[in-house]
Amino acid sequence: MSKSYYITTPIYYASGDLHIGHSYTTLAADTIARYKRLKGFDVFFLTGTDEHGLKIQRKAEDQGLEPKEFVDRIVANIKDLWRVLEISYDGFIRTTDDYHVKTVQWVFQKLFENGDIYKKNYESWYCVGCESFYTETQARAFPDMICPDHGKPLERVKEESWFFRLSKYQDRLLSYIESHPDFIQPVSRRNEVIQFIKAGLEDLCISRTSFDWGIRVPFDPNSVVYVWVDALTNYISALGYPFDKERFERWWPADVHLIGKEILRFHAIIWPILLMALDLPLPKKIFAHGWLNLGGKKMSKTMGNVVDPKELVKRYGLDAIRYYVLREVPFGADGDYTEDALISRINSDLANDLGNLVYRTLTMVKKFTNGIIPEPGREEKEDAQFRDECLSLKARVEEELDNLRISAALERIMEVVKRANKYIDETSPWNLQKTGDTRLGTTLYNLCECLRIVAELLRPFLVNTPGLIWDALGITEPIERASWDSAAQWGYVKPGYVTRRGKPLFPRIETEDWSSESVKEAEISGAKASSGQELDKNLKNRRDFLDRDPGEGLITIDEFRKLDLRVARVISCERVPGAEKLLRLEVSFGEEKRQIVAGMALHYSPEELVGKQVVVVYNLKPATIRGIQSNGMLLAAKDENVLSVLTLDREVKDGSKIS
Ligand code: MSP
Repeated sequence: MSKSYYITTPIYYASGDLHIGHSYTTLAADTIARYKRLKGFDVFFLTGTDEHGLKIQRKAEDQGLEPKEFVDRIVANIKDLWRVLEISYDGFIRTTDDYHVKTVQWVFQKLFENGDIYKKNYESWYCVGCESFYTETQARAFPDMICPDHGKPLERVKEESWFFRLSKYQDRLLSYIESHPDFIQPVSRRNEVIQFIKAGLEDLCISRTSFDWGIRVPFDPNSVVYVWVDALTNYISALGYPFDKERFERWWPADVHLIGKEILRFHAIIWPILLMALDLPLPKKIFAHGWLNLGGKKMSKTMGNVVDPKELVKRYGLDAIRYYVLREVPFGADGDYTEDALISRINSDLANDLGNLVYRTLTMVKKFTNGIIPEPGREEKEDAQFRDECLSLKARVEEELDNLRISAALERIMEVVKRANKYIDETSPWNLQKTGDTRLGTTLYNLCECLRIVAELLRPFLVNTPGLIWDALGITEPIERASWDSAAQWGYVKPGYVTRRGKPLFPRIETEDWSSESVKEAEISGAKASSGQELDKNLKNRRDFLDRDPGEGLITIDEFRKLDLRVARVISCERVPGAEKLLRLEVSFGEEKRQIVAGMALHYSPEELVGKQVVVVYNLKPATIRGIQSNGMLLAAKDENVLSVLTLDREVKDGSKIS
């Protein structure tokens, strides 16, 4: 039987919809789970929702709903988000699930029977956002006694509560952490925990009486279990603990709990001590990653500075978002989300490097060998070196992923992609073709193999792209059947395969800020694609891309109505000096005249357009292209060879609306 691998995310508060920050943890866990499955592990990937506590009770009250009704709605949205992001979880636990409630009550009873809990009168400070108690000293350290993470004043809590003897286990925990260097990672976080324990652990209040949305303490019906004890127990209740011994022992101890750094103390102190009190082994690793910030602040529902991942997927496509989230922030550190950074990541890594490599390779195979993967021919030293670099990539990716360095693993893959683009420039297959050199077969074959390997190794991270690359190479066997190990074997792609050059995988995304810089880049990438990916094609692709809906690919009539399309007459037109693809047009909407820059100069002469009635996107944000303001966009149709501007069947008044 294959080795088991148990990975978890935190269970998310069912207090509101999740944002891209939460998706970050889950995408990271998804990547590792996919990787381990590919490596042949028997993986259990658990995620879920944390549904009890004062915060949720209050939110439900605000909306006039019963708490269960409220969380049911949120959970449906969370599950839908994971569907959109194609999260491959094996288990989804809700803390309102019966089996979980039973386990928590069993655990509480057990702690009681073992003498690890006692009752006392308690007065403390509480942050409902963190669902956490703070001592007088800790509370006074916050400016104005306001929680810095949630921006809300701490509340005074005075109750008779059950206490858990954390202090009793302090030394045992400390020596465990010190003798297991891998237990808490990264190292900086481990040190932080060690310092905290050394300062002395206070016993923990683990029940509440002032509200009732929680799991009842079995021997004290006036109390509910403290939400963190309830939540942490999910990691074992999901495995059937203590009722399903076989299942539990198959997976426990967890290989890794992935968490955000703000909940490290709960996981690295309370959780291990709870497990010690239950006489259970501790998880092998707790990895605390950094935050995805927005404007320098942690993105958070309470602070209201959030970005909706579904919206991003709709706008940029799933793999682009998965790539950005996994690549942008070195796992462990903090990173800042900006849409500009996202677009430039997509453009530089996915469109310019990966997309271009696929496009260039397949274009050359199409042009030079009729779209058929050729037999390798004569080989030079550089060809063998390139092959070796491709073959050793798998080991480099594994080295990073085994250490949860997800961003670095993607970086390793992209290094080879860049290397391959350089290999094209260095070997200049077009010259080999001119001279009839058999090395042409070698270079094209090597590039196809390189793409095959890259596609295989991208499987933990991206969900659609690997299969698309695979199909483009004409490999008929589904990529799912390729073993992970085949990424370190040469010769999987066979000469004779018929390649398929489809649409570019990742078209460039043009931004509002169409500075001459970005246009230049677009032109350069077009020029690089040897068959000439023109600027207008990029524009067209962008529209295709933006129109893609991750759901069913349909838009509503209201979405369509957002487009303001109008008839305009071209009153003058000229070429843009120094930009062979651009035309500057002056168009009239009747009263109003506007200037538009269009990437059509390779298809239309200025004279051909003057006088024509054309279709313009009237409500497009203005952009500056080559320093010229462009205020609208002309619609055109394009096939392999011809670009055709949309005109009208009959004359109408200039400026007429199109619906
Ligand atoms: N319910 C608790 C966890 C209980 S686990 C036994 C909780 N939930 S949460 O919904 O507030 O946050 C869950 C996790 O989401 C955080 O630990 C963190 O991993 C992730 N993130 C939330 N906001 C984030 C960012 N802005 N950036 C990165 N991760 C973030 O805490």
